[in-house]
Amino acid sequence: MSRPTDYFPYKNGVMTVDGVSLNAIAECTGTPVYIYSARGLLDPLKALQKGLKGLDHLVCFAVKSSSNVAILQLLSSHGAGVDLVSGGELHRAAIAGVPADKVVFSGVGKTPGEMARALDYGGNGIYSFNVESEPELRLLSSVASHMEKTAPVALRFNPDVDPKTHPYISTGLKKNKFGLNRAEILKIAREVSKYPGVSIRGISIHIGSQLLSLSPLQDAFKRVRALLEELEDILPTPLRFVDLGGGIGITYRNEKTIPIPRYCELIHRYFGPKAGLRHPMKILIEPGRSISGNAGILLSEVLYRKQRKEKDFLIVDAAMNDLIRPSLYGSHHEIVAVSRKTGARKKTDVVGPVCETGDCFGSDRPLPRSLDQGDLIAILSAGAYGFAMSGNYNSRPRPPEVLVAGGNFEIIRERETYDDLVRGEVLPDQTCPRPEAAS
Ligand code: LLP
Repeated sequence: MSRPTDYFPYKNGVMTVDGVSLNAIAECTGTPVYIYSARGLLDPLKALQKGLKGLDHLVCFAVKSSSNVAILQLLSSHGAGVDLVSGGELHRAAIAGVPADKVVFSGVGKTPGEMARALDYGGNGIYSFNVESEPELRLLSSVASHMEKTAPVALRFNPDVDPKTHPYISTGLKKNKFGLNRAEILKIAREVSKYPGVSIRGISIHIGSQLLSLSPLQDAFKRVRALLEELEDILPTPLRFVDLGGGIGITYRNEKTIPIPRYCELIHRYFGPKAGLRHPMKILIEPGRSISGNAGILLSEVLYRKQRKEKDFLIVDAAMNDLIRPSLYGSHHEIVAVSRKTGARKKTDVVGPVCETGDCFGSDRPLPRSLDQGDLIAILSAGAYGFAMSGNYNSRPRPPEVLVAGGNFEIIRERETYDDLVRGEVLPDQTCPRPEAAS
């Protein structure tokens, strides 16, 4: 698994990406700016596809981790499908040209409108709705019946295993809102005729994100296997696929991660041709972070150095609205100077301009004392859940996104303007009916 600087090496003392210096990109786009390496995105995708060779498989990139349409198009052109969780993500998949038979739709709160759009996607509809509750299944069945369609479904199983990750990103425990438990799934399977608008074709799971050990996955796989056995005896037609979710962690600092080949071996062991399944099954996975995380950085300029006795503050032009992970989860992102600096270091807090103490990208970092106004810093491992979770807090326009491939860089999202910030806002005027006048 890649490390934060693998795709952003120093050359002649300056950080680069695919042979392009980050200074050159900053000169063109200004800062802050998100920068992605195409190779950084494709290498992990290819490693997963290689590891799953021999299985009928599909790697569905989790759009929520990094949802720019150019990134989706790049991954799709290399065989990836997508895992999405909203009508907005479905719209992105359509723009990126992702084929319908490579789209799965997860999420606990699908609306009837989203269901209808997904049933219409590409004409014949998407590959699978990963259904998370009985009321959702009932609604999907009715929406599909009204459209004279049959919705393909995977029931999302909550296997109740502890993924041992941050509590906000654990999803496979029974106390979490996600999925159906074994009893609920068996009940649905027994009463499948109650849902004439759906066809139950698979089981899906996703136990959590930033997993650093295989053992929770192995526990979950075991439970899925046992459930598949039980379902075989109940369902009128055999299941066709298992969707094993995402969750493989990456190195942000020095974490030891799960090697992709070992993850794939585990999948072969439980679901491959020699696994003793009654019918061969297609295997889907939904990686997000392991593909996009270390393929992207957030580049920012130092605005001020504020000197204090015990530690200094570097105030930079990126803020928590651009990358919220450190503020929200206390997560660690390496921060480095783009032009290598020698000389003494000092404990430094790297902070943004937003009016919150939590607007801090890193505390007590031993950064060069000479790093000062006008210098560029890179916040690493920002490709996943970086731009995708950004917002406009403090009325800050969101940064542009740049994709670097084959020694060239392209702006794949423009910097937002002040006009973008107020788009859709309306100054009230007398033309709106007042409540008393409305009747
Ligand atoms: N599939 C489903 C159903 C998911 O809910 C998720 C992530 C994934 C796949 C992709 O998981 P990954 O391979 O990226 O771990 N904002 C948090 C992460 C939230 C993850 C939510 N679900 C963060 O910044 O760490």
